[in-house]
Amino acid sequence: MKVLLIGSGGREHAIAWKLSQSKKLRKLYIAPGNPGTAQCGENVDIPDTDIEALVKFARGADIGLAVIGPEDPLSAGAADAFEAAGIKAFGPNRAAAQLEADKAFAKDIMRANSIPTAESRSFTSFEDARAYIASRDEPVVIKAAGLAKGKGVFVCDEPSEGILAAEKIMKDRIFGEAGNTVIVEDKLLGQEASILAFVDGRSIYVMESAQDHKPIGDGDTGPNTGGMGAYSPAPVVTDKLMDQIVREILVPTIDGMNRNDTPYRGVLYAGLMLTQGGPRVLEYNCRFGDPETQPILMRLKSDLLEVMLAVCNGKLDTVTLQWDKRPAVCVVMSSGGYPGSCQKGKVITGLDEAAKLKDVVVFHAGTARRDDAIVTSGGRVLGVTALGETIAAAKLCAYEAVGKIHFEGAYCRKDIADKALK
Ligand code: AMP
Ligand code: GLY
Repeated sequence: MKVLLIGSGGREHAIAWKLSQSKKLRKLYIAPGNPGTAQCGENVDIPDTDIEALVKFARGADIGLAVIGPEDPLSAGAADAFEAAGIKAFGPNRAAAQLEADKAFAKDIMRANSIPTAESRSFTSFEDARAYIASRDEPVVIKAAGLAKGKGVFVCDEPSEGILAAEKIMKDRIFGEAGNTVIVEDKLLGQEASILAFVDGRSIYVMESAQDHKPIGDGDTGPNTGGMGAYSPAPVVTDKLMDQIVREILVPTIDGMNRNDTPYRGVLYAGLMLTQGGPRVLEYNCRFGDPETQPILMRLKSDLLEVMLAVCNGKLDTVTLQWDKRPAVCVVMSSGGYPGSCQKGKVITGLDEAAKLKDVVVFHAGTARRDDAIVTSGGRVLGVTALGETIAAAKLCAYEAVGKIHFEGAYCRKDIADKALK
């Protein structure tokens, strides 16, 4: 089968790497891809949001399956467009992708289905939001309701900070339209976990757990990013807790989406806070997480293309997921300045030396090819991922690989996976 994968990040390199190992795959195209995906298939120079051009290409190239990686094309209706053209699409349609694209919609689904999450209110008027935040003397979390590349959340210990955040989102409009509605919610305490599941509309098949590292600085300090590293599995998610997460969160979410006439198909990602009172949903994503996908797919032994087809055909109950027991750790190397504006075009060296290490894969994200060199082209540049007999060994190996890679201004957190080691 010929497959078109849409996207250009580290997640897409990981998906391309895994799909390229499938026995069922005849040819893999990636649009627009990056220099890493070019090692797994053929990059096609079409932006991931140009849905019309993507469908036209897919028709001409006899594509049997379109795999839509990022949230932007999903929430713009890419899956709907492929299906209208008679091409199978992996990923939720526009209506179901609201679970990520509109946090107010997600809160409504959670409320209607008694899914545990933080208490919250949503506002479209800054004055109303300000009055509400000012009336509270507890820490608050302020969220832009729309898509903001993982940067739209402000965890504020003081109401005054919360008001400033609401002002940035609603008045300065730092996230544009994504800030038309703001959610103000209670701050939750605990460890976070990312739970991803394949969903075919009816059945759910949960993947191995993972944990992301959202803030830029060691010890979870500084502003939020798209994610600075991840590991899988997350030992805090015991089998018992996983059962509870499936029962209290994933199943009611899928049932609730069906009752709402927005059935869900694809990967459902629940970002959770594991509070003393049990797991609570922080957010849903309508796709694989980035960087969680890198360690998760490095551990997946089953044929990803078979699983994706089973999802599209409503036959998830016919597949089984096999996992490498060894944990995996992914360390993101970012450009200086990220998550603010950052310099691009810096030459990256040492990629081959790093990739030569056993059980290491260097996933590309914000990279580009310039003549014979690979250069930086974005905030998150690489996801250096390693398997190890233990999390500690995987961490050591990932950082050893990081040590071989150089570019001006390179930054990474030094404490990825430490929470699992405590
Ligand atoms: P989100 O994009 O909604 O997952 O939020 C990004 C990050 O902000 C999460 O990974 C958490 O670290 C933090 N966060 C979001 N909501 C809350 C909350 N209610 N309480 C505490 N931290 C939160
Ligand atoms: N790692 C968080 C996300 O993919 O949104």
